[in-house]
Amino acid sequence: MDAFYDDPKNSNPHFKPTLNAHGHMLDVLDEYGEAFVAFARNTTKPVADLGVAFGFSTKEILKTGATVYANDLSEDMLKELNDSLTEEERLRCILKPGNALELDFEPGSLSGVLALRWFHFLTGPEIREVVHKFFTWLEPGGKVVITCSTPYSGRAKSFIPEYEERKAAGEEWPGFTTKQIQEVGGLLKRESFHKMEPVILERELKLAGFDVEKAGFLTRSYYPAHWQLDGREYCGVIGVKPKNL
Ligand SMILES: C[S@@+](CC[C@H](N)C(=O)[O-])C[C@H]1O[C@@H](n2cnc3c(N)ncnc32)[C@H](O)[C@@H]1O
Repeated sequence: MDAFYDDPKNSNPHFKPTLNAHGHMLDVLDEYGEAFVAFARNTTKPVADLGVAFGFSTKEILKTGATVYANDLSEDMLKELNDSLTEEERLRCILKPGNALELDFEPGSLSGVLALRWFHFLTGPEIREVVHKFFTWLEPGGKVVITCSTPYSGRAKSFIPEYEERKAAGEEWPGFTTKQIQEVGGLLKRESFHKMEPVILERELKLAGFDVEKAGFLTRSYYPAHWQLDGREYCGVIGVKPKNL
């Protein structure tokens, strides 16, 4: 049970509330998630799917035949994922409960890293550090896909003027705040949130050494109407580790 999502104005057929008050899992992929699944089809090394909640994206990747390390802060949600797999899938799905920032894979040991919808829980320095880790873990030609919420959502639109002011002043992380924002739909109990834009995700990937294949805004047309704004509610980035390293 989750009081926020029990409220009909926040409920949605595609939402499954997380067990640890970290928002909801989606049972649909956007174009960034889909691009990763398509990529996973031709990988030779395992891929890491991080912050998976109950693992909808993990199951889509498993359908491609790839081997997946599935990570989340919540061991309970990973257990539910594991219980829902076939015996064959279980052999290709290695559970890695805990903080993704503390994971340690051998350099060059992964073909891909997927991080859908949890970068908004991180500080700027944490984002920089973990993107560098992704770069190290990936083999040359390996791919990273990240999505994150933006300031341009109906949910927290009272934050937009402050965001734009801080961006215009040249702040490195204008979307990070520890203020309690009165969000449309109710106050979420969060110590902080970090709204991102494609340009910032792109900057961080390039800084780590990635070539950026794609970066852009994402609309959330199926979200509750008052959560939407103008089609820029989410953003994503796809990076490739250069082959000639
Ligand atoms: C909003 S849900 C997104 C779930 C799923 N990736 C999706 O797109 O539907 C965020 C998930 O990320 C997890 N998470 C947040 N910070 C994390 C971290 N540092 N390491 C691992 N998982 C994290 C939460 O536990 C939660 O399950």
